[in-house]
Amino acid sequence: MKVTVVGAGAVGASCAEYIAIKDFASEVVLLDIKEGFAEGKAMDLMQTASLMGFDTKITGTTNDYSKTANSDVAVITSGIPRKPGMTREELIDINAGIVKTVSENLVKYSPNLILIVVSNPMDTMAYLAHKATGLPKNRIIGMGGALDSARFKYRLAEALECPQSDVDGMVLGMHSDTGMIPLTRLATRNSVPVSNFLSKERLAQVLEDTKVGGATLTKLLGTSAWYAPGAAVSSMVQAIACDQKKMFPCSVMLQGEYGLSDLCIGVPVILGKNGIEKIVEIPLSDQEKETMEKSAAAVRDVNGLLN
Ligand code: LAC
Repeated sequence: MKVTVVGAGAVGASCAEYIAIKDFASEVVLLDIKEGFAEGKAMDLMQTASLMGFDTKITGTTNDYSKTANSDVAVITSGIPRKPGMTREELIDINAGIVKTVSENLVKYSPNLILIVVSNPMDTMAYLAHKATGLPKNRIIGMGGALDSARFKYRLAEALECPQSDVDGMVLGMHSDTGMIPLTRLATRNSVPVSNFLSKERLAQVLEDTKVGGATLTKLLGTSAWYAPGAAVSSMVQAIACDQKKMFPCSVMLQGEYGLSDLCIGVPVILGKNGIEKIVEIPLSDQEKETMEKSAAAVRDVNGLLN
């Protein structure tokens, strides 16, 4: 399994690090446009191999896509991250051009790859990658729901004062502060609905804290987060590499599922060796359906900014 990670910034490097530590890939290629940067990150990471106990070979390249040839999976993290006070949507002008060029270059050297899009505004960037490459819809996956769900579990565990391994929950919808849909109704602690343990008000607080999860970190860090995004991507790559058939909410091209078409938005999918093995349709309450429609309308508005 060869994995390319485009963008050797904080998210890309964390993603490469977690993939290497989990030791399921033979090779990770880091690519960046900044001269020597990806080579440096790759060398630094390789010098942890004997300490961390992995055999994955990590190499770096300055914008030479021939080095990414025959990748099975590629992750696009390139583009500018948001600064405090910015929305993900405000990044579209710069990031759209970057994601288009990067995805076209990747597919040129690896026509059979599975593409994971991380750059923001993520749902629109996944949609753009479809338009730019024409890859089959099972081979382009937007990372957002996996990260937002991890943040949801963090907030649930905090409210429940329990370990995160006790809780389960999913976030659907757009990867944005207003479009995210944490499914509080279905969240559980060891199979028991969390509403048994938390008041309506506390659960509403969990929901709000989850939705602004990225913005909260951007404010604290001065730039967007990287550990949890990197970990979320590495889990998705592992599910594909190891054909785990694991369920994650991801931003995928819908063609009628959830009553929506011609947009990428977060819904539960099964990830395996073919990328998206299946889109899982779960029954939503009327209120959740309404929120999903609003979220889809917001995604379409951002998609409309693409020219
Ligand atoms: C975040 C970025 C990766 O939510 O969108 O941290």
